Formats: sequence, C-alpha cells, structure tokens
Amino acid sequence: MIFKLEEEHIAVKEAAREFALSRLKEGVIERDTSMSYPTEFVKEMGEMGFLSMMTDSAYGGSGMDTLSYVLAMEEISKIDASCSVIMSVNNSLVLWGLEEYGSEEQKQKYIPRLTTGNEIGCFCLSEPEAGSDATSQRTTAIDMGDHYLLNGVKNWITNGGKATIQLVVAHTDKEKGHKGINVFIVERDWEGVTIGPKEDKMGIRSSDTHSISYSDVKVPKENRIGADGFGFKFAMKTLEGGRIGIAAQALGIAAGAYELAVSYANQREAFGISIGNHQAIAFKLADMALDIEAARMIVYRAAYLKDSGLDYGYASAMAKLIASEAAMKHTVEAVQIHGGNGYVKEYHVERLMRDAKITQIYEGTSEIQRIIISRNVLTGKLELPY
Ligand code: CAA
Repeated sequence: MIFKLEEEHIAVKEAAREFALSRLKEGVIERDTSMSYPTEFVKEMGEMGFLSMMTDSAYGGSGMDTLSYVLAMEEISKIDASCSVIMSVNNSLVLWGLEEYGSEEQKQKYIPRLTTGNEIGCFCLSEPEAGSDATSQRTTAIDMGDHYLLNGVKNWITNGGKATIQLVVAHTDKEKGHKGINVFIVERDWEGVTIGPKEDKMGIRSSDTHSISYSDVKVPKENRIGADGFGFKFAMKTLEGGRIGIAAQALGIAAGAYELAVSYANQREAFGISIGNHQAIAFKLADMALDIEAARMIVYRAAYLKDSGLDYGYASAMAKLIASEAAMKHTVEAVQIHGGNGYVKEYHVERLMRDAKITQIYEGTSEIQRIIISRNVLTGKLELPY
C-alpha cells in the first residue's frame, strides 16, 4: 500500500490551493453575506478545468481521475465551500452521468457546453414531498408519442437559477414504482420551465439554490437518458459518485477550520502562554487532526475504488458520513478555540461551521448513508477488496 500522492496529483492539489488562496479568499465573506453568485470564479474554474475534471478530453473535459477531483475539491472547500459545491454538482451529478449513460448524440450535444464555465448544469431529483425517499417522485413525464410532457416541481436545486442544462428525474409510469422512473435532459429556456426564488440559506450562501417548476414542458424523445425505466438506477449511481465529491467538500471544510484553529492557537496568548500550550486546546487540536486524517484516508480510498473500476457505493457512503460528521464536529470546535473572535465573520470559522451543516444533509443525509452502509453490512457485501 502506498500512502503517497503521485506528482500529477500534487500538481492538481497545489493549483487548486493557489487558485483558492489567490482568487477566492479575498471576497469570500462578502459573497457569503450578500449571497452573491461567483460568476467570475465559475468561469475561471471552467478555464482551469475544474468543472469537468473526470470528463473525457474528447468532449472538452480535463480527463483526470477521481482522486484529482477530490484533491481539488478539498483545497477549494477549505476557502470557499460555495464554489466547491457548484463545481461538485457540475462534475459528479451532471457530467459524470451524461458521459457514463448518455447516447453519443447527447454527449456531443451537451457535454462540451458544460466544461468551460460559460454554462453550468444541475441535477433535479429532490421534490417538496420526495427527499430521502427518492422513489416517491411526483413529477411526471407522459409519453405523447413524439415527445414527453413534463409536469412537476423540484426543490433545493443547487445551481438551479444559473443552470442552462438540467437533468430532471420524473415518473413516466407510476404503476411501475422505481422501474417507471426516467431522467431527462431539459434546457432552462424551454417553454414551461420556471425558476423559483433563490433560497436564503444558513450556509454555502453564494451558491445558487432554487426550486424549479415544469408546466407542460415538451421534452424531445431523444432527451431521455438510457433505456426506459433506467432513471432510478441512474440517480443512485450518480449519487454514489456525487457523495465522494461532497465527502471531499466536507473534508476541505474540516481541514480549513483546522488550519485556522492551529494558527490561532499558536498566536493567541492567555495566562502568559499561547493557548495551544494549554492542554484543553491542544487536545482539541489533536482530536481534529485525528478525525480529519481518518476521514481523508476513507475519502481518498473511495476515489481509488472508483478509479479502479471497483464497487464504491458503500465506500462513498462511508466517506461522506465520516467526513461530514468530522466537518460539523470540528468546525464547532474551531469556533470554540477562537473564543469570541470565532463568533464574528472576520475569522472565517463561523462561516465554515454554517457551511459544514449541509454536508450532513445533501446528496443523502447521514441517516441515509447509515442505511446504505448497514444494508451492505447485513448482506455481507462489506468486504473490502484488499
Ligand atoms: N446502484 C444501482 N442500483 C441501485 C442502487 C445503487 N447504488 N441503490 C438502489 N438501487 C436499485 C436497487 O437494486 C433496486 O432495483 P431492483 O428492484 O431492480 O433490484 C432499486 O434501485 C430500488 O432500491 P431500494 O429498494 O434499495 O430503494 P429504496 O427506496 O429503499 O431507497 C435509498 C434506497 C438508498 C434510501 C435511496 O432512496 C437514496 O439514496 N435516498 C437518498 C436520496 C438522495 O441522496 N437525495 C439527495 C438529493 S440530490 C442533491 O442533494 C443534489 C444537490 O443539489 C447537491
């Protein structure tokens, strides 16, 4: 077993860190406060190849592996988790599924539009009445012969207001349960697509979250992805990879808070010595280092399994669970270490704490990850491919 990054991975990590520090850091507090979408930086992320990291270069992607994607997500999330979720959704929930399951015509038509940062995609699964229970979709797409007629409402859609290309999950035949679900490529400008107001969120505030409604939207037959009834499996497979991205985001948030806490503990003094020399603070830092390193190993391993063509569903659930729990726990501790300063925006840790919370919720709550892990445990599938 080799616990060492290859040179190409170190280069990606350093490029992402440099971009985050030199471009994202300066205005991050203001963007968070004003909920300003980082249009300029999304464009730059596209130019740097961060929006299509695992996509084949034949379609305009960067053609890198999942570990590279994880490393870039981690570094960008240390500084700005709003930018990283925009990146994650485009990479994992939109481009990966399009490339893996789309027809050649769909890939050629849509993928190149989503690699440059000029356009962005979104993944429309959640509904007002269908969050964790993803099979209970109420959105319908009725087969009208030469097209589908799409009706319904989607909720909490990351990139929802900006995305020009949407992957929409809908029932084509409710009688068939999950086997009657399909996924469609929908364009924002089509008649009947309405973007709801922007959500005013606790964290990741400069990312763009909206509801989207569909009223008699005509979807061409050729815009269904995969065979009839494949939509639920498409969503599940897509989320397996998406969870590696969110795990990396959570890891970055935790690591960002840790770096700030270490630096603060070294320079802030109390009772004549730096607070890091008080055991109460030193032990908190030790616990942070421990949990973050443990999460990092599991997140990188999930990426390795995916890159190796092995089953990674349970590994991605584990990665998301351990990293998001570490992010929540240790951003709270980072605020505590900063004392009163931690409670004000200038010191960044309160934002990281607010940003951490969503990683325990989106792309499957912590409870859903435990369902997935426990099902693997009980069916004996949790055998690691050593
Ligand atoms: N890969 C392939 N197939 C899968 C699968 C997987 N990972 N998981 C389930 N399936 C298949 C099953 O094999 C089964 O098919 P068959 O009947 O042919 O065998 C079918 O799907 C139904 O499976 P289950 O009976 O296990 O389904 P379930 O109703 O019990 O739900 C669940 C399983 C894992 C809980 C699923 O509903 C789930 O993941 N829920 C969470 C949804 C979620 O993550 N939502 C997040 C929204 S997206 C988001 O947040 C985006 C954003 O903007 C950031």
